[in-house]
Amino acid sequence: MVNRTDIEGVLRGVIDPELGADIVELGMLRDIAIAGGDVTVSIALTIAACPMRDQIESDVVRRVVGLPGVDSVNVEVGAMTQQQRSDLMSTARFKAREDAEPTMVSPLTRVIAVSSGKGGVGKSSLAVNLALAVADQGFRVGLLDADIWGFSIPRMLGALDASLDADDERKIVPFEGHGIQFVSTGLIVEDEGTALMWRGLMLSKALEQFLRDVRWDSELDYLFIDMPPGTGDVQMALSRLLPQAEMVVVTTPQLAAQRVAARVADMARRSHMPVVGVVENMSGFTTEEGRHYELFGSGGGQQLADELAVPLLAQVPLDPHVVEGGDHGRPVVRAHPDSPAAEAVAGAAARLTELVPKAEDETCTARIAVLAQQLEEMAAGQA
Ligand SMILES: Nc1ncnc2c1ncn2[C@@H]1O[C@H](COP(=O)(O)OP(=O)(O)O)[C@@H](O)[C@H]1O
Ligand SMILES: [Mg+2]
Repeated sequence: MVNRTDIEGVLRGVIDPELGADIVELGMLRDIAIAGGDVTVSIALTIAACPMRDQIESDVVRRVVGLPGVDSVNVEVGAMTQQQRSDLMSTARFKAREDAEPTMVSPLTRVIAVSSGKGGVGKSSLAVNLALAVADQGFRVGLLDADIWGFSIPRMLGALDASLDADDERKIVPFEGHGIQFVSTGLIVEDEGTALMWRGLMLSKALEQFLRDVRWDSELDYLFIDMPPGTGDVQMALSRLLPQAEMVVVTTPQLAAQRVAARVADMARRSHMPVVGVVENMSGFTTEEGRHYELFGSGGGQQLADELAVPLLAQVPLDPHVVEGGDHGRPVVRAHPDSPAAEAVAGAAARLTELVPKAEDETCTARIAVLAQQLEEMAAGQA
């Protein structure tokens, strides 16, 4: 059965973007009631008519419903008293001083980690093409290649000869190309010497550097992270550094994915990263004559989505354009936008931005903050 601690853990990922603190820390969580698999979360917003209300509610639901043992989530929303509001403001002010510079990623940026329960399923291909498809919707998008040794983003984006520069403040400037910005160890490692230096680094440390020392666009709407296969260390580091991170899980159509599902659910639970949805990749192959082959079986994506109680975002067919585009830096969503694979990825991107909408930058708490400051200044003026 689900417990309070797990629920509180995932609620720490619901962040008031402007204050950069989570709703638990801000004292907005009032109560958690658990009745079997039915969970009721009561939260207090600064004002009841908070324009952020929908976003906060849906973030709460998405995070809690992903926990094992949860069947339904009900959110009760109330408003804070004046005393609670002023406590919240002092917590927020304290917090702002305390974490002066946690990462270079804005708390307003939505973070989507593209993960899987096993390797070679097309994580990198999907991370690249999803990032581009979301950029094509008009959003500002970044892509971080967290597969430190097995990096593949530079090749996929045709940036094999590119390298990263540092700015005056010794921050790494991300590479810009195809309308997104991206960073990969492949853009840093030039010779054996530097490669060795990086090899001595723990994977989670490398990720930390990419988040702390890269000057990401402060107005990024979405940051996609191409996760390395295997260990949960990187997942854990990611959720510690960017508690707003969420996962998209890539899988193949093979059935009997139960073990994979268990692994993914475990990864999500341990890292407190909710799963937004599943993308099934390599879903069948249709020949030019229209003959359809389900080379890797069928139903695996839906089965995994059902097990995790999240939507199946898309089924991306096997398509030689994906391989060719990946090898030559011509991602399929740009080079062959009318191909079935590109259309499926674009569909997944549309679902994704619907489920995880761009964070609103005007929050009710921010408004209160301005008000509180004005009051303080008035009080100071009178003294
Ligand atoms: N939908 C697809 N159709 C055809 N080939 C694909 C598809 N998705 C991925 N591939 C190919 O499969 C291989 C593994 O994909 P990759 O994205 O590197 O996986 P991962 O990052 O999970 O290891 C690559 O050669 C890639 O081009
Ligand atoms: Mg990869």
